[in-house]
Amino acid sequence: MSEPVPGSVVGDVHSTLGRPLFNPVLKVWVGEGKLDYEVYLKTSDLLRLQTPRSELVSPDELMFQVVHQVQELWLKLLAHELAEMVGDLDGDGMWEVSARLDRAGRIIRCLADELRVLETLTPDTYQVIRRHLGNGSGQESPGYNAVRVAASYVAEALDRLLARRGVTLAEIYVPGGSPELKRVCELLVDLDEGYQTWLFAHYMLVRRTIGVGRDVEALDGVPTQVLVGRMTQPLFRSLWAVRNQLTVGWRGEGGFAPGTDRGDVRVSA
Ligand code: HEM
Repeated sequence: MSEPVPGSVVGDVHSTLGRPLFNPVLKVWVGEGKLDYEVYLKTSDLLRLQTPRSELVSPDELMFQVVHQVQELWLKLLAHELAEMVGDLDGDGMWEVSARLDRAGRIIRCLADELRVLETLTPDTYQVIRRHLGNGSGQESPGYNAVRVAASYVAEALDRLLARRGVTLAEIYVPGGSPELKRVCELLVDLDEGYQTWLFAHYMLVRRTIGVGRDVEALDGVPTQVLVGRMTQPLFRSLWAVRNQLTVGWRGEGGFAPGTDRGDVRVSA
């Protein structure tokens, strides 16, 4: 038997995958877009959204495109959850708020983890793909913009909640403050930390694919160095500011040197 011509088998595999496939369990053809699963999830449309193999500038371009598309979907979902959260906060639905924040936190962790797939793109391959991206900027990402706008509405809804309860943010972080409100604020901080962790993961991705520096320009001409300052810009500024406020506000009065009597601040047995 003669050896297959290099490249011909892989071509055959891709051709097979591009046609409907017979599922031996259900005994139906999958991939024609007619089954309930395919109709409900619009898989025909979804799977047509990627550049066909014959037009890819590198086999890795599919990964590049898929990771970006999936990130947009997760960001869309995250923005949707944040918008719903405004209603939960305005309706004083504390369980709903915490449940939704739990979900939002899981989504943002997925976003950061997923970027690790794209980290397998080596700089030389990215240079090939990059030539076909026009002058696009990450700032043009619809999902990124939606998350930032939705989060600003959440921040306003949190302010309204605090106003209804007659407390300031600083007051919920003092002994005797509202544990319920403090829990919500801490979950929002978790989400914000996750968001910034995603931006940091993106920064590391940029650093290893194109490099970070004042002389390294993104496709829109912006030096990649700008990412250093942007990745720590939070979604909920006041929740970070209150930490500074608490620390700056303590001037050392009532302090005890290590080893001396701790006064009346000890946890009771
Ligand atoms: C190899 C892959 C990637 C490279 C080389 C890259 C490169 C860059 C660069 C150089 C910037 C700063 C300049 C600008 O705003 O255009 C940027 C910003 C951005 N990128 Fe990417 N990126 C990659 C993947 C991704 C992915 C998968 C996403 C997911 C949506 C993404 C989202 C963003 C966002 C939202 C910004 C704006 C962030 C900010 O300004 O703080 N990028 N990217």
